[in-house]
Amino acid sequence: MRPEICYTIPAESPAMKRTLNTTINRSKNEKNDEHYTQLADIENEVRHYRDQFRGKTVLCNCDDPRCSNFFKYFTRSFEILGLKRVIATCYKSQDVDLFTQKSCEKAVYQIYDGDANGNREVDDEEIAVKELEGDGSFDSPECLRLLDEADIVVTNPPFSRFIDFLTLLINRGKKFLILGNNLHATTKEIFPFFQSNQVWLGYYYGNMNFIVPDHYRLEGNRAWVDEKGQKWHSLGNIVWYTNLEVKKRHEPLTLFKKYDPAVNFKYFNYDAIDCNRYTDIPMDYFGEIGVPITYLCHHNPDQFELVGTALQLADMQKVKDRMGRCDGGRRFYREEGSRIVRMFDRIVIRRKDGNHAS
Ligand SMILES: C[S@@+](CC[C@H](N)C(=O)[O-])C[C@H]1O[C@@H](n2cnc3c(N)ncnc32)[C@H](O)[C@@H]1O
Repeated sequence: MRPEICYTIPAESPAMKRTLNTTINRSKNEKNDEHYTQLADIENEVRHYRDQFRGKTVLCNCDDPRCSNFFKYFTRSFEILGLKRVIATCYKSQDVDLFTQKSCEKAVYQIYDGDANGNREVDDEEIAVKELEGDGSFDSPECLRLLDEADIVVTNPPFSRFIDFLTLLINRGKKFLILGNNLHATTKEIFPFFQSNQVWLGYYYGNMNFIVPDHYRLEGNRAWVDEKGQKWHSLGNIVWYTNLEVKKRHEPLTLFKKYDPAVNFKYFNYDAIDCNRYTDIPMDYFGEIGVPITYLCHHNPDQFELVGTALQLADMQKVKDRMGRCDGGRRFYREEGSRIVRMFDRIVIRRKDGNHAS
């Protein structure tokens, strides 16, 4: 008799059940790239990096300056942060301008160089508005020229282009602080950047509420209309991808659990033990350990090495040999009596500090 395959979703939020591909496809097909970030969420993150913005040119390159809270935040905080310049570019094929509800006919960019008239306000005449020749896509030649001029890119890029966007910033040697979903972290394109310390996660992790346009299809209990008729969508597993200095990544995780083979079982198709929560990483185990993606929020590169992801490491031939088939993408499996249990996505880590418990 063939063992049963069963699926398990360990200690992760329900939003993670949706696959990354499904989410990207929904973004592409339904123009769900239009999720507008709230001012408070931007402020809440940027405050951790204040000193790193001094004297810098900030580029918000997926931002209609007429409605982007990123542009608003950096122009309003220009003096406090000691910025040199703020630039925002607007992508033309955006369907409808969020606040004026008018088509965005021309791609434009705006530049702010500070409070020229000294009245402590951001006045219209202090903002230079310029038309772009092309569609304002972040990878168009004229936007790349603006990118070259910038020191730090801060924005919430389109979900459907996230991988291209992050790769571009890294290849151009830019500093960045960009919003995204943590599911992108384990993609084959992005995870190597984590392994080589070219990107890590910022401070905030969790749910975030975004304003969405009128055409947004409300589905499930994470989307709603407020009393003013404004549509909202809450997304889970939102993180900030950055290469700005983040203090917590130099603080070692305090490990206090002991390795317990009954809890930290070995995978059936890869030589590593499982650890369901980062707080439960055993202090006395020095082999490879599979942990949830949320571990990345706590990763200290001096303490642990990022060995790989289930997507890279899982031996699916073993599953096929045992089951006669293997459904879904590459994942780790565990044996549970006569059953084989498919794990949720995992990252594999290994202690860097030899064989001493910390
Ligand atoms: C997730 S929304 C965020 C908007 C804004 N950054 C914010 O946080 O409020 C992504 C924005 O990128 C725009 N966009 C889509 N494709 C783009 C591209 N190729 N280049 C630049 N912006 C793009 C979309 O129109 C959308 O307004």
